[in-house]
Amino acid sequence: MPILFDKEKQVFKLDTSSSSYIMRIYKENYLCHLYYGAKIPDYNLTDHIFKGGFASFCPENINIPGAGFSPGVCTFEFPGENTGDFRESAVSIRNADGNNATDFRYAGHIIYSGKKPIDGMPSLYSESPEDCETLEIEMIDSFTGIKAVLYYTVFEKLSAMTRRVAIVNPTDKSVKIERIYSLCCDFNTRQFDMISLYGRWLKERTVQRQPLFVGTQSVGSKRGSSGHYRNPFGAIVGHDTTEDYGDAYGFNLVYSSNFKFNVEVDGHGGARVLMGINPDTFNWQLNPGDSFDAPEAVMVYSANGLGEMSRTFHRLYLNHLIRGKYKHVKRPVLINNWEATGMNFTGEKLLTFAQRAKELGLDMLVMDDGWFGARDDDTSSLGDWVVNEEKLGCTLKEFTHKVHQIGLKFGIWFEPEMISRDSDLYRAHPDWCVHVPGREKSIARHQYVLDYSRKDVRDHIYSMIKKILSENEIDYVKWDFNRNLSEAGSALLSNENQQEVFHRCVLGTYDIMNRLTTDFPDILLENCSGGGGRFDPAMLYYSPQIWCSDNTDPIERLSIQFGTSLCYPASTMGAHVSASKRAGYETKGNVALWGTFGYELDPNKFTDEEKEIVKEQIKEYHKYYDLIHYGDLYRLIDPLESGYKAAWMFVDEEKTQALFTCVVIKLYEDLVFYLKLKGLDKDAYYRCSQNGEVYSGALLMNAGLNLSDYPNTDGESFKLFFEKIS
Ligand code: GLA
Repeated sequence: MPILFDKEKQVFKLDTSSSSYIMRIYKENYLCHLYYGAKIPDYNLTDHIFKGGFASFCPENINIPGAGFSPGVCTFEFPGENTGDFRESAVSIRNADGNNATDFRYAGHIIYSGKKPIDGMPSLYSESPEDCETLEIEMIDSFTGIKAVLYYTVFEKLSAMTRRVAIVNPTDKSVKIERIYSLCCDFNTRQFDMISLYGRWLKERTVQRQPLFVGTQSVGSKRGSSGHYRNPFGAIVGHDTTEDYGDAYGFNLVYSSNFKFNVEVDGHGGARVLMGINPDTFNWQLNPGDSFDAPEAVMVYSANGLGEMSRTFHRLYLNHLIRGKYKHVKRPVLINNWEATGMNFTGEKLLTFAQRAKELGLDMLVMDDGWFGARDDDTSSLGDWVVNEEKLGCTLKEFTHKVHQIGLKFGIWFEPEMISRDSDLYRAHPDWCVHVPGREKSIARHQYVLDYSRKDVRDHIYSMIKKILSENEIDYVKWDFNRNLSEAGSALLSNENQQEVFHRCVLGTYDIMNRLTTDFPDILLENCSGGGGRFDPAMLYYSPQIWCSDNTDPIERLSIQFGTSLCYPASTMGAHVSASKRAGYETKGNVALWGTFGYELDPNKFTDEEKEIVKEQIKEYHKYYDLIHYGDLYRLIDPLESGYKAAWMFVDEEKTQALFTCVVIKLYEDLVFYLKLKGLDKDAYYRCSQNGEVYSGALLMNAGLNLSDYPNTDGESFKLFFEKIS
């Protein structure tokens, strides 16, 4: 079993196929962290709780005689506030007496097969009890009586764990949770680099890496969304860690609102990693008898670099996060009208798109923004989810029927969490948006965010959406979210509860997504937020794919897709061929193939030659679907690092097929350039379908390919498909 408890030594050991996580109940019931890293057979690690050095100016526990015990120099699982450990704490509770001294100690535990869901929140799941094992540790602050439950689930085969925390108030007094991180991981060394993903609109998830320094380094969001600017992913890696070598610890929060990934290096040489709800914008009143669930955090360890860390995340998410019909069913190749028409379309025009798309072999037409209310530009109508029949030239039922008659599926765009200032809904309910009563509201894209902490608001919006989805033939929904929250407040919450708005709103979003996916299990849901502004595991729990970025330029997309792939699988990355000018259709197709694949242009404008390219691309999409969606990704040349090329490959689990793609992003000067492939079976022989040659896996991985034999001009690209023959 992956979870062991040694009663005599009071040690917990959580093993996966290649990692060990070890902790200990120390004197006075402190729950101390001992080790996280490559798998080790034993756990004689008692000294590891102390970081050494002279603990001067660190208060001690008076009940531990001898050398004393200073919380400030120990490694903990759930360190509290204002009780002797001066680093950022994992938890801080403002007690009924007004003080925030918080000190949770071990009180008991249980171990069981499988994993429990979190009520009202997304989390990873087990398909069978054998998939994972869970340890629940009960902690108590004996002074206040407040309890905490720490959940550790071990996915043994995948070198992955999840962690989360629930706070329970069994007392008769209300308290305030002021900080509640979902995971704390205390390392005994600071010899690491921190990796995070930053960006903005059109530039999401760019990789950044720098050595840890003494002090606090963190990334987070205060936007009421995970956001374009930083992703709720962070990694701690050795200074020498590469794609294929070295320690890599990846952390990802299953949460779509304000998060923080916080790493603090102290003067004693240790590094404390915390991940969870951003405490800067959070405060939660916990009344007698209530409990609070913090979101789940995912931890992946790889002893073999970032590549293996990413592949572990991908397998974990494909098997234990993505749900619903489209977890296994092939996704339709869609054409979306947004980049071609904006809101300036008619039903008649879209039917020509559908007709052309059908001729080319596509599967679905998606009607984007502009089909409802009086929406001809972005100044109005969000919240008025009533079909504009004048624009469509018929009812939506008739329209969707026509699309189906052409032989395509039909998809539609919504932005359910928003309200335009110019909308009937806003005129009727000006207090239904997130706002601070009496204070001026900041506007963005002419819209406000609906106050989803309110059930009446959610019920109203969902009833409109449900009506449209029930009465028409709809196969797909694109759920958009085009601004972030400001003046976060709610007209209904009491003063005491105002700081709960961000979290309550995201719980409201989860509620509606849950209703939608439950009521319409056959609908394919794609998330979007001005491109990839909400690309996080929580959204992937509801929608198996997320529009990766509004930037559809294939060269720009490379660094976005490289960054995204650090923890999110190819099958989740919405990627389309567009009319962008920087490269030809072949390269646009090769880049979009590393994703869900689709088109975002006017198909009436294709030349005959382009039509043939598109038909070929659709065939390739079907041919390589399983390999790309379920295979292993190997990043070979990072475009940001190299500056002249990008290359990657997918290999199936049995190593019988491999697809290699290379894109040239700048004229390359060296005449000869050899690239070693990865992930193949060294003893097998593979035929390359492009040149008919046979190579051993060993040759391809050691001698490599001479890339100067292939297209080598700025914007060009090529693919090589290898199939095992013996
Ligand atoms: C966002 C999306 C686009 C498109 C527009 C419509 O920006 O990312 O794909 O749907 O909204 O307003």
